[in-house]
Formats: sequence, C-alpha cells, structure tokens
Amino acid sequence: MSHVEETDSSRRDFIYYAAAGAGVVTAGAAIWPLVDQMNPSADVQALSQIFVDVSTVEPGMQLTVNFLGKPVFIRRRTEEEIAMARDVALNALPDRDSRNPNKPGDASDQNRTMDDAGEWLVMTGVCTHLGCVPLGNGAGDFGGWFCPCHGSHYDSAGRIRRGPAPENMHIPVAEFVDDTTVQLG
Ligand code: FES
Repeated sequence: MSHVEETDSSRRDFIYYAAAGAGVVTAGAAIWPLVDQMNPSADVQALSQIFVDVSTVEPGMQLTVNFLGKPVFIRRRTEEEIAMARDVALNALPDRDSRNPNKPGDASDQNRTMDDAGEWLVMTGVCTHLGCVPLGNGAGDFGGWFCPCHGSHYDSAGRIRRGPAPENMHIPVAEFVDDTTVQLG
C-alpha cells in the first residue's frame, strides 16, 4: 500500500516520500490511486512512472519526490539561480556531460533544465560520489547543493564544482505533460 510522509522544514524544502504506488503529488496533499494488485502490468507501470503537480511551487521552492527508491529534486529556480548557472563557462566544469537523457550533450545550463527559460530543474538528488543525499536551497560554495559526507559542492544547475564527486547529479527521464504536471519516467 502507499505510504506518504511529509516534512515541512524551516527552509521551505518540501519533502514527500512514497514507498510504492503512483499518484499526483502536490505541495499540500498527495493522492495515491489504488493499484489493482492482481494486475502486474499496472503495478509495474505505477512503479516506473509518476506524475507530480507543481502548480503551487513558487520560485525558490523545491519538492523532493521519492521515485524508484531515490529522491528526485524538483526545483523552481529563482532568477538569481538561473543567472548564476548560466554565467559559468563550460571549461570551468569538472564534468562537461549534461547527464540528462532528455537533453544529451554538454553540461550547459540549458541542457540541464526542463524548460528553455531554465526555471525548472529536475534531478536525482543523489551525490555521484558515494550516494548521499546532498543538502539544497543554496547550500555549498556554488549556490546549489552541498554533500556533507565528503564535501562535494554542486552549483545551482546541480553540476559538480568541487569535491570528490565525479559527475553532475543525474537527471531522470522527465517531461512536462501540461503546464503544471511533471511526468517522471
Ligand atoms: S557521498 Fe557525497 S561527497 Fe561522498
């Protein structure tokens, strides 16, 4: 059965965990349709795809959704975060691969984000060093995420900038299916 917990931290970081199942996740509530337990294909599909309602996410806010056993950060970036990420020269990046199956190519900010304007960054919130979950909301020396396990700093596009992590945080298969719904998987 589905299981949902919510943690609303003082840092406006809204965290949702779903042990199993598919559903619509919103900033205020989560609705998890029952999956027919006798139908394996529905079950498999439920585990491999979720839809997240991002209509209430303001700039500077982030949802964390548990998808396929890993946290996925869905961040609506501020103008400042976008400008910071777009100011970075590619040759300043330790990892120049976008790590984005939706936009294969170099690690330019444009190749990391969902939309052309760069407001929406969706990525797997797992440090590429040994798999800790980095801290967000501008943590670290590059305005993005910081992994305290061994000191990896990621910028506001989730790209590794300093520390032992070898790769940018990975981006899952994702797309906007309408203006306010992100499909993962
Ligand atoms: S797991 Fe993140 S720095 Fe080692």
